[in-house]
Amino acid sequence: MKFLEGKTVLLGVCGGIAAYKAAELCRLLVQEGATVQVIMTAGAREFISPLTFSVLTGQPALTEIFKPGGEDPLTHIDLADRADLFLVAPATANILAKLAAGLADDLLTTTALAVTCPTLVAPAMNVNMYAKAAVQENLATLERRGWGIVEPEEGFLACGTTGKGRLAGLERIVAACRRALAPGDYRDVAVLVTAGGTREPLDPVRYIGNYSSGKMGYALARAAWERGARVTLVTASPLPPPPEVEVIRVQTAAEMLAAVEGRFEGSDIVLKAAAVADFRPVAQAANKIKKDAKQGLNLELEPTVDILAYLGRRKKRQILVGFAAETQDLLANARQKLQNKHLDLMVANDVTRPGAGFGSDTNIVTLLYPDGSKEELPRLSKPEVAHRILDAVKNLPGFPKKGTRPEREE
Ligand code: PMT
Repeated sequence: MKFLEGKTVLLGVCGGIAAYKAAELCRLLVQEGATVQVIMTAGAREFISPLTFSVLTGQPALTEIFKPGGEDPLTHIDLADRADLFLVAPATANILAKLAAGLADDLLTTTALAVTCPTLVAPAMNVNMYAKAAVQENLATLERRGWGIVEPEEGFLACGTTGKGRLAGLERIVAACRRALAPGDYRDVAVLVTAGGTREPLDPVRYIGNYSSGKMGYALARAAWERGARVTLVTASPLPPPPEVEVIRVQTAAEMLAAVEGRFEGSDIVLKAAAVADFRPVAQAANKIKKDAKQGLNLELEPTVDILAYLGRRKKRQILVGFAAETQDLLANARQKLQNKHLDLMVANDVTRPGAGFGSDTNIVTLLYPDGSKEELPRLSKPEVAHRILDAVKNLPGFPKKGTRPEREE
C-alpha cells in the first residue's frame, strides 16, 4: 500500500544547507506513490542542482516564473490547480516572511498564493534565527491561516551551534504529508495505544521480558495520528516513539496499568498491542543475585493484573481492541480472549510464522469480531496492518461519528 498514491505534491525547496535533504525527501515521497513536482528558489540552486530533483522525480525541477523563450505566465496557476499538497522543505526564514506577507516575486511564492490544497512548511535555520520573534510571529501567522508546521528538531546545526533549527526528520515530514492528505476519519477521536514488552525486574540488572519491539504499537499510534486522532502512546519499548503523539514511558505491567487506567476515561478507542508480562517476581532482590554454580535458582512468580480484562469490565463507550500473540490454536485461543476480556475486536497473530509477530517489520493477522466473523489479512507492513485495523475499528458500532465527537482543547 502506497499512502500517497495518485497524489501530486508540490515541493518547494529553499536556499539553506538542508536543501540537500530535500533530495532524500523527494525519494521518500515518490516511494510513497506521490507525483512530486519540485519548485526551487534561486537560493536553493546555490546548494543543490535542479538536475538532482529532475532525476529523482522524473519531472523537470522548476526554477523560473517565466520560461526563457516561449514564456508561459500561467505556470504557477497550472501547478496550483494540479496540487494535492503544497510543502516547503526546507523553509528558510526568508520564505516564511514572504509567505506570511503574501509576497509573490518568484515561482514558489506565486504558486503558494495560488494553491487551494493543504499547505505545510518544514523550517530549517540557525538556532538564533529560528528563535527570533520575527520568525516565530511569521510561523504563528501561517499556522493561524491553516498552514501545517513541521517543527524543526534540536541538534547539531551546520553552522556549528547546537539547538532547535535542524530540519525535522524526513520520516516526520512524510508523516505530516500523509496526515494532511488523509481522510481525517479519526479527527477528534481520542486513541490510547500500548506498545512494547513490559519488563519485570528480578534484581537491579535483570528482568523477565519478551521479544516485543514496539513496532506494531508505534505503527498504530502513527496511523491514528495521520488520520487525525489525538493519540496517547503508553510504551514499554526503548525505541524512539513517534514525536507527534503524547508519550508515557513505562517499564512494568503495574506501571502500564497505572498509565492506562489514568487515561481510560478520556479515551474513545484503546488499541492494546503491548505484550504485557503475565507474571512477575514476587520479590525484587535489592542487589544482583549471585551465581551459585552448584545450585539452580527457583523464582517465585505471581500473576500481574490483566489490564485489558480490567478495562473490559470497566468500559462504557470505549471501543477495546486486543491483540493475541499465539503459538498454537490461533483462532480458538484468540476468540476465547475476545470473549473473556469483553473486546470489540481481536487482532490475532500467529507469532511462529515468518514475517509475523515480534520484532519484524511485517505482520500477518486475522481480525476477529464478537459476532463470530473474521477477516484474514495477508502479510503486510506493520503500518499497513495498522491502517487496516483502523479501517475495521471505524466500522464498529460505537465508533464516535463526526459531529458527536467532543471538541477538545489543542
Ligand atoms: O512489538 P512488536 O515487535 O511489533 O510485536 C507485535 C506483537 C507481536 C507484540 C503484537 O502484534 C501482539 O500480538 N501484541 C499482544 C501480545 C500479547 O501480550 O498477547 P497476549 O495474547 O498475551 O495478550 C492478549 C491481550 O491482552 C493483549 O492485547 C495484551 O496487551 C493484553 N494483556 C495481556 C496480559 C496482561 N497482563 N495485560 C494485558 O492487557
